[in-house]
Amino acid sequence: MSRDQLISMARENLGFVKAGTTQLQTDLLRVPASNYFDPARWELEMDRIFGRLPLMLAFSCELREPGAYKSIVAADVPVLIIRGRDGEARAFLNSCAHRGAQVMPEGTGKARRFVCPYHAWTYDDRGSLVGILDEDEFGDVDRDCHGLTPLPITERAGLVWVALKPETPVDFDAFLAGYDEVLENFGFENWHVVSQRTVEGPNWKIAYDGYLDLYHLPILHKDTFGSDFPNKAIYTAWGPHQRVSGPNPMLLPLEDKAEADWPMEALVGGVWTIFPHVSIATFDAGGRGVLVSQLFPGKDPGSSVTVQNYLMADEPDEAGRAEAEEQVDLLEYVVRVEDYATGLRQQRALIAGGRKEVLFGRNEGGGQRFHQWLGRLLDADDETLNDALRAGDPLADA
Ligand code: FES
Ligand SMILES: [Fe+2]
Repeated sequence: MSRDQLISMARENLGFVKAGTTQLQTDLLRVPASNYFDPARWELEMDRIFGRLPLMLAFSCELREPGAYKSIVAADVPVLIIRGRDGEARAFLNSCAHRGAQVMPEGTGKARRFVCPYHAWTYDDRGSLVGILDEDEFGDVDRDCHGLTPLPITERAGLVWVALKPETPVDFDAFLAGYDEVLENFGFENWHVVSQRTVEGPNWKIAYDGYLDLYHLPILHKDTFGSDFPNKAIYTAWGPHQRVSGPNPMLLPLEDKAEADWPMEALVGGVWTIFPHVSIATFDAGGRGVLVSQLFPGKDPGSSVTVQNYLMADEPDEAGRAEAEEQVDLLEYVVRVEDYATGLRQQRALIAGGRKEVLFGRNEGGGQRFHQWLGRLLDADDETLNDALRAGDPLADA
């Protein structure tokens, strides 16, 4: 079924290629400039967006074996994800039941027991407390009530989503809206992480707007991607998640072939975003690859941190790895020096005031949809959140 969706997207794309047109919305969207820097708005985003929605924090291929774990700090919340001996991935607040210390340092690895560095309280692969140092002297502690705090988690399409609050009201199916079934076409569970880097940037939305925006490519990235790079964008949405691709003339030869023979690589090109903070961009240096950018708000409205993960479908040999590293060097440069440096200056100019609104054009449906979804989910309280997620495409309402 999801391959059918890929085929129909390719056909829609071909329609634009042949007509020499692109996808346009009915109207411009005006977004208040203060949405990018107002501290009250930012607090609400931390609470209602990053605090409630599942965030894509790990790849199944980082947690292949029983005991494999990943410790990551997301929106200032330390999270520990562990592949249990039963094959299940579980997520926990990475905070010890004794006095709250972070149990595992950030990174990935494999362990049988998870030992707190402060006083050596010990947890197993299910987060259960299994060891208390000098227990006789410590006093009575009911181990059953003092495990690591579990967080809601789902693992689909080789990707692991975790909600940062144990009591999140969100229905994961309503949130994913079938997007995970389309992402399954990548087969990420068998891919390999070959590079991980972090890049600091401006307000998370200033940074994220750029991932949905092809309009800027031949302008801001003229020195890297080139001034001939196409700037037209076609967006397809599943709930708040969007795929972005340019009208792609390379699809034209497919028309002479049976749909069953259309190669997967041709069907999944472009950028796949996962609301509210991830972008998956496809590349082919040294083999089939993707740059998965995980964007997290920093400690204040004016900062963010992006983890750039480069994954490859096949484990690269030395030459393939070198080619991939070169690709990632370029992408890190593009994001740090072109996108985020521009975003930091944009942010300073917006904070300076005098401009009440920013604009998203008819040709920028991706940014329009993102900001409309954000507004809708910020407005929803815990009782109405799932209805808001199921309420359909905000651009279709316009
Ligand atoms: S805080 Fe973890 S053992 Fe004391
Ligand atoms: Fe960019």
